[in-house]
Amino acid sequence: MKIADYRREYTQSGLYRADLDTNPFQQFDRWFTQAIKSDYPDANAMTLATVSATGKPTQRTVLLKGYDSKGFVFFTNYDSGKGHDIAENDQVSLLFSWLQVERQIEISGTAVKLSSADSAEYFHSRPESSQLGAWASHQSQSIESREDLLKQLNEVTERFSGDTIPLPEHWGGYLVVPNTVEFWQGREGRLHDRFEYTLSDKEWHMKRLQP
Ligand SMILES: Cc1cc2nc3c(=O)[nH]c(=O)nc-3n(C[C@H](O)[C@H](O)[C@H](O)COP(=O)(O)O)c2cc1C
Repeated sequence: MKIADYRREYTQSGLYRADLDTNPFQQFDRWFTQAIKSDYPDANAMTLATVSATGKPTQRTVLLKGYDSKGFVFFTNYDSGKGHDIAENDQVSLLFSWLQVERQIEISGTAVKLSSADSAEYFHSRPESSQLGAWASHQSQSIESREDLLKQLNEVTERFSGDTIPLPEHWGGYLVVPNTVEFWQGREGRLHDRFEYTLSDKEWHMKRLQP
């Protein structure tokens, strides 16, 4: 089969203004709750796009670990590629692709570091192996071999043996405070439904976009 002929119609559902909550966080909660209940694999996986100070864009998957009316939370290594980008340019974008239900959500906004108290609370809720992994891995730096990585893990395992593992200074969360949120539902003949919420004067305004 030619890749140019590889296509499908999106027919499962439609999206109308009347279906949507006037608040994008409430609308996100509706779709996210449906996604979790439907057991989509990795429903909380999202693509995070950042842009460096020189304008170089980078994307990678991270996991959503919380949301409320302030924004969307993920955790990472602050010394990673994404951490450096955000330190230079706090404008980021998040993308959820739930293609099994022909849906996409795109969120754009400002990334703000969580307090170390909030990061510590989540850090200590993680399995011990993940806590040690956060100490052992200098995320996004090169390493000669997997053996060297395991050596770093052994070192931190010995160092913290029998103790509470502290929150590393280089590790924690970001809250993405959105200024734009778009909900996309696939439709027949590529006439998809799109609704974009934008924040202006502290109020959310919603408009339909052409597909
Ligand atoms: C399903 C999945 C979930 C991931 N979740 C996270 C995460 O929550 N935090 C994180 O730092 N990296 C996560 N990663 C790894 C990132 O995609 C990425 O490789 C890493 O953070 C380094 O990215 P950077 O060099 O752009 O900073 C995940 C990868 C996948 C495939």
